[in-house]
Amino acid sequence: MLVTSALPYANGPIHIGHLVEYIQTDIWVRFQKLRGHVCHYVCADDAHGTPIMLRAQAEGIAPEALVDRIGREHRADFSAFAVAFDNYHTTHSDENRYYANLIYTRLRAAGHISRRVIRQAYDPVKQMFLPDRFIRGECPRCGAADQYGDSCEACGATYAPTDLRNPVSVLSGVAPEERDSEHYFFQLRDFEPMLRQWIADGSLQPEVRNKLDEWFDAGLQDWDISRDAPYFGFEIPDAPGKYFYVWLDAPIGYLASFRQLCDREGFDFDEFCGPDASAEMYHFIGKDIVYFHALFWPAMLHGADFRTPTAIFAHGFLTVNGQKMSKSRGTFITARTYLDHLDPEHLRYYFAAKLGAAVEDIDLNLDDFVNRVNADVVGKYVNIASRCAAFVDRQFQGRLGPHVEVPELVEDFRIAGEDVALAFEAREYSRALRIVMALADRANQYIDERKPWLIARDPQRADELLAVVTTGLNLFRLLTLYLKPVLPLTAARVEQFLRIAPLTWEARDRLLLAHQVARFEPLLTRVDPKRVEAMVSASRESTDTAAAPAQPQAPVATTQPDAAAIGLETLDRIDLRVAQVVAADYVDGADKLLRLRVDLGGETRTVFAGIRAAYEPAALVGRMVIVVANLKPRKMRFGLSEGMVLAAGGDDGGIWLLAPDSGARPGMRVR
Ligand code: MSP
Ligand code: ZN
Repeated sequence: MLVTSALPYANGPIHIGHLVEYIQTDIWVRFQKLRGHVCHYVCADDAHGTPIMLRAQAEGIAPEALVDRIGREHRADFSAFAVAFDNYHTTHSDENRYYANLIYTRLRAAGHISRRVIRQAYDPVKQMFLPDRFIRGECPRCGAADQYGDSCEACGATYAPTDLRNPVSVLSGVAPEERDSEHYFFQLRDFEPMLRQWIADGSLQPEVRNKLDEWFDAGLQDWDISRDAPYFGFEIPDAPGKYFYVWLDAPIGYLASFRQLCDREGFDFDEFCGPDASAEMYHFIGKDIVYFHALFWPAMLHGADFRTPTAIFAHGFLTVNGQKMSKSRGTFITARTYLDHLDPEHLRYYFAAKLGAAVEDIDLNLDDFVNRVNADVVGKYVNIASRCAAFVDRQFQGRLGPHVEVPELVEDFRIAGEDVALAFEAREYSRALRIVMALADRANQYIDERKPWLIARDPQRADELLAVVTTGLNLFRLLTLYLKPVLPLTAARVEQFLRIAPLTWEARDRLLLAHQVARFEPLLTRVDPKRVEAMVSASRESTDTAAAPAQPQAPVATTQPDAAAIGLETLDRIDLRVAQVVAADYVDGADKLLRLRVDLGGETRTVFAGIRAAYEPAALVGRMVIVVANLKPRKMRFGLSEGMVLAAGGDDGGIWLLAPDSGARPGMRVR
C-alpha cells in the first residue's frame, strides 16, 4: 500500500497541530509494516503559492532558498518525532512538474479544461492580482473595520471581496482595482457520476460522506486552476504567464514523491498508481482539506488515467486546554519548542490515547497530558520491566528461565493482540491503548500477587523467582510489541535490553526463554510538569520570532518591508515600551552609532542607535524613549543590540527621538 500525509506548507514551522496528522499516519504505517505488509509512506513540502513567494521576498531571498531551508527544518522535526517517511520530497521538483503537466495535458485533451475571462482585484502598486485573503476592508453587513476579503470575523458574514467597503490591499495599502484576466478551469461537474460511484465503492468516513452529499446538492462548481504571474509555481504548458494554482500540483506531489522513491528503490510505480494498480492508496488529511481530496483529487486522477484513492482518512483539529492554539496563551507550540523541553514519545502516546477513526477535534489538555503519560506509560508499562529486571540482573546474571510460571496468562496476552491489531487497523488508537493498558494492569497485578521481592529472600525458592520474573518480562515483551507503532524509540530500547531482533507481529507466537538479556537501563522518564510550564512560556516568548501559522492563503504580508496596511493583530505583535536611557556612549569605529543602556522597568538592555549625528551621549542620559522590546536581538560588529529606539527622520537626515509625555514610567506598554 501507498500511504500519505498532507504536505505541509513550506512557509512556516511544523507545530503540534500538524503533528496530530503525521503521528496518526506514522502509527498506522508502522503498524502495517509490523504486520508484514509492504507499505510505502511518502510526503513532501508544499512549496508553491503566493504566501511563500511573498515571504521569500520579505526575507530578500529566492523562493527556492526559502523552501530549501524550511524543508530541512521540517525533515529534522519529523525525524525527531520518529515520523518515518520512506520518502520526503518537495512539490517544487522535476517529478512534480512532470506529473502536473501530464495530468493537465491529459485532462485538457479529454475536454475537461475550459478558459474564460474573470474580473479580479488587482494591486496597482505591487502589480499583482490579489487573493481574497490579501484584501481587507469594512464588513458590508456589520461595518466592522479591517476584515478579510472573504469573511467577517466580527459577524461571520461571508461575501466576495468586491462587496467590502473601502477595501485596501494588505500588501500596499492602496485600494485594489478590478482587472480582467483569462483563467483556466477544471470542469469538476464532468466527474459527478464518477465521483458518486467512487464514493459508493469507497470507504469514506460517514461525516465525510455527508459533507460530500451537501456539496453534490449545492452543485459542483468549475475549479479555477490558474494564477497570473508573479507566482511561485509551475507555468502552465502553452500558457505563458499563467501558473498552476498551488492546490493543483500539491496532491500531485504525492505521486511525485512516490515516483522519486520508485526510481531510487526500483519499485513499480504503476502497481501503486497506474490505472490498474493492484496496491491500495490511502491519504491521511485534516478536515479542512476534504474538498480538495475527496472531490478534485479523485476526479483529476480518474480524468488523467491514474488510479483513484482507496480511502481518505480525515481527522479533526487539535485544541490545547480546550481552546484554539494561541500565541498569546503560549499554546501555539512548534515541534522545535516541544523538543527543547519534552520527550517526543510522550506526545505520540498522548495523541494516540486520544485518537479514534472519527473526524473529531482532539484536545491536548496539558495537566491531563502529564497525568496520563506518567500513569500509563511510566506507572503501568515501564514499571513491569523495572520490577522484574533487577532480579534477573542480580540473581540470575541476566539469564531468563526455561519456562514461564503461568502460560495461560501469557497466552491471554498473545490472544489480546488480535483485538489490539483490529483497533490499530481501524485507526481506533485510543481503543488499542485501552486494551494494552488493561493488560499492563493485569501484569502488575500478577507481580503484586507473586511478590518477587519476598520470594527473593528465600534462597530455596530461586526457581520460583526465576519463573515469576521470566513471566513478567515475557508479558512486558508482548506489551512492547503492541505499543511499538506508538512508541518506536522506546521499543527499540527494549529490544536492546532484551537482546532480541526487532519485534514483529509474528514474534508474538514465541516466548523468550533461557535467554540472556542486557543490563536494564531506564527506558523512559516521567513528564515533569515544570518542563511543560517552561515549554508554554517559551512559546509565549517566541511569538515574535515564530512564523505565522501555515494557513492556506494566510497573508504573510505583515513581514513585507513595504507593507502599509496591517491588521490590529500585527500591531499587537510589536511590543513597544517606554524606557529610560541610563547610559550613552560613542562606539569606537562607528560614525553613526551610539551605544545606549536603557531601563525597561526592571530590565536593562543594550541598544545600538544610529542617532550620533543628532545627539550628544551625555545629553541623553535620563531621557525617556520608546523601544521596540521584542525585536529579535541582532549581532552587530560592536556587540549585541537588544531592541531599537524609535525616532522620526526627515529627508534632510534630521533625527528626532520619540518620547512619551511627562509622567510615563519605564516599562509601560505603548499602544
Ligand atoms: N499544504 C496543504 C496540504 C496539501 S496536501 C496535497 C496544507 N498544509 S498545512 O500545513 O496547512 O496543513 C498540513 C496538514 O496539517 C493538513 O492536513 C491540516 O489539516 C493539518 N493541520 C494543520 N493544523 C492542524 C491542527 N491545528 N490540528 C490538526 N491538524 C492540523 O493544508
Ligand atoms: Zn461583519
